[in-house]
Amino acid sequence: MDALTTIFSRRSIRLYTAKSVSREMVNEILRAAMSAPSAGNERPWHFIVLTDRAILDAIPKFHPYSAMLKHAQAAILVCGDMTLEKQKGYWTLDCAAATENMLLAAHAKGLGAVWCGVYPTEDRVANLKRLLNLPEHIVPFSLVPLGFPAEEKQAPDRFDGSRVHENRWP
Ligand SMILES: Cc1cc2nc3c(=O)[nH]c(=O)nc-3n(C[C@H](O)[C@H](O)[C@H](O)COP(=O)(O)O)c2cc1C
Repeated sequence: MDALTTIFSRRSIRLYTAKSVSREMVNEILRAAMSAPSAGNERPWHFIVLTDRAILDAIPKFHPYSAMLKHAQAAILVCGDMTLEKQKGYWTLDCAAATENMLLAAHAKGLGAVWCGVYPTEDRVANLKRLLNLPEHIVPFSLVPLGFPAEEKQAPDRFDGSRVHENRWP
């Protein structure tokens, strides 16, 4: 799949089959994440690969929009490392770029994925830190469940000319 086809056809996939996702596929998605741009190339991220069913099932108990984890084969938690941030305030942007790369890589590999928001919702951050025993300087940012898709979605063209401006406002 070429890059633009991947971008234009990606949708959030929340239903997955029981087919397992290989570690090779997960590693490829992690490689895509770490290829993202970051401020000053600071790469302030860590990734926690979640495959433990007890952990995957525990998250929807405190994250209200993550029920799909119960059927996901794996999930990747993107975290920011506060000790690696060189350009103050940019770690969230770096982690967002990494998250989007993961979604695109998953789709390109034939997997379904969805961005589950964590940061800056305080109780989700606190609960994940507790559940996964994260040290103080590691802040969970986003969670991406993975699995082979059990739903098909059309991707509408969202181009909106009214949001495009030339040189000045208005
Ligand atoms: C920052 C962010 C947080 C999101 N959080 C959730 C979430 O917690 N649960 C969920 O099911 N989808 C979540 N989404 C996915 C959006 O609902 C989805 O991207 C949006 O509805 C557009 O649909 P599409 O991804 O299929 O194009 C999130 C997306 C972003 C960018």
